[in-house]
Amino acid sequence: SVLEMEVEQIKKGNYDHFMQKEIHEQPHSLTTTMRGRLKDGAVLLGGLKEHLKTIRRSRRVVFIGCGTSYNAALAARTFVEELTGIPVTMEVASDLLDRQGPIYREDTAVFVSQSGETADTLLALDYALENGALCVGITNTVGSTLSRRTHCGIHINAGCEIGVASTKAYTSQIVVMAMMALAIGSDQISTQARREAIISGLFSLPSNASQVLKLDSEMKELASSLIDSESLLVFGRGYNYATALEGALKVKEVALMHSEGMFAGEMKHGPLALVDENLPIIVIATRDACFSKQQSVIQQLLSRKGRLIIMCSKGDASAVNPGGSCRVIEVPKVADCLQPVINIIPLQLLAYHLTVLRGFDVDQPRNLAKSVTTQ
Ligand code: G6P
Repeated sequence: SVLEMEVEQIKKGNYDHFMQKEIHEQPHSLTTTMRGRLKDGAVLLGGLKEHLKTIRRSRRVVFIGCGTSYNAALAARTFVEELTGIPVTMEVASDLLDRQGPIYREDTAVFVSQSGETADTLLALDYALENGALCVGITNTVGSTLSRRTHCGIHINAGCEIGVASTKAYTSQIVVMAMMALAIGSDQISTQARREAIISGLFSLPSNASQVLKLDSEMKELASSLIDSESLLVFGRGYNYATALEGALKVKEVALMHSEGMFAGEMKHGPLALVDENLPIIVIATRDACFSKQQSVIQQLLSRKGRLIIMCSKGDASAVNPGGSCRVIEVPKVADCLQPVINIIPLQLLAYHLTVLRGFDVDQPRNLAKSVTTQ
């Protein structure tokens, strides 16, 4: 009805679409995710406090989710292992159920779901409960089935997300998992300095998110150059392998363009065969321990005449693109393990603009639902 349309426009404020609004809200949603939880260099997570000792004793952390929530957990995997010393395995909820994969009493199973109502994730939760694991929920929805059925958990407090493609929930999920890793690892002396550096990195995230959002018009221009492409590859590694998967997921789900995120380290084992002058390839090469490996990936792609778009840290344009032949996206540098929170934002903007320019429905992509409550 006309009234419903007007209410919807009011909720969107000055934006044309919910996805656009939610992308631009991230400096604020990241702030609300951290509010009251970082005090005097310590992390306070009320919902986890009573269970930290059990989690520290667990033999393994198993992350379980679907879609964007799975990708957020993947982005968290490395720093959870680093800060807790506990091995982390990853499970797509439906695949865990298909395999009836082993889950033990000594496992901490962490379920990540924006809605808290995804059927596959909830069925995997039932399965993990039956197998006696400690079950932790990470969700944006207070009172959701996930938050009621898990033993304990953390709300991401990102605010209501309406666009079917998840954006602000993704970045808040990563931040919550960073705080969770800091809390679990808080009894370890050897990582004290590292934890302090990450906490100060968390404080700087909202302002760095504001900075990176200034790339909006640049991403729109990039989108217009890709509008007729049939496919887009995204190469990442280390902390930003998840960024490659999530950037590609955004492009395929809203812009309806084929896109694949790939391990840059696997390039020579197949994907290199696809490289030519036409196929656009985004290479994520921000500064971290993998930087020099990404520089050599860029060299190899260029020697096959690859059409590259390189994401790098501010000031690194000539280090990643000495010949000046590629398009470069420069992003602010933050603590290496938090860089995925910043790096996904230009890719969200790119997917958004690509969708609008291609004339597709941004907030209700073809065939998809915000919350998939059937198997
Ligand atoms: C659906 C949505 C995705 C979402 C996934 C998981 O497929 O279209 O955007 O990432 O479900 O949703 P959840 O609410 O469990 O995070």
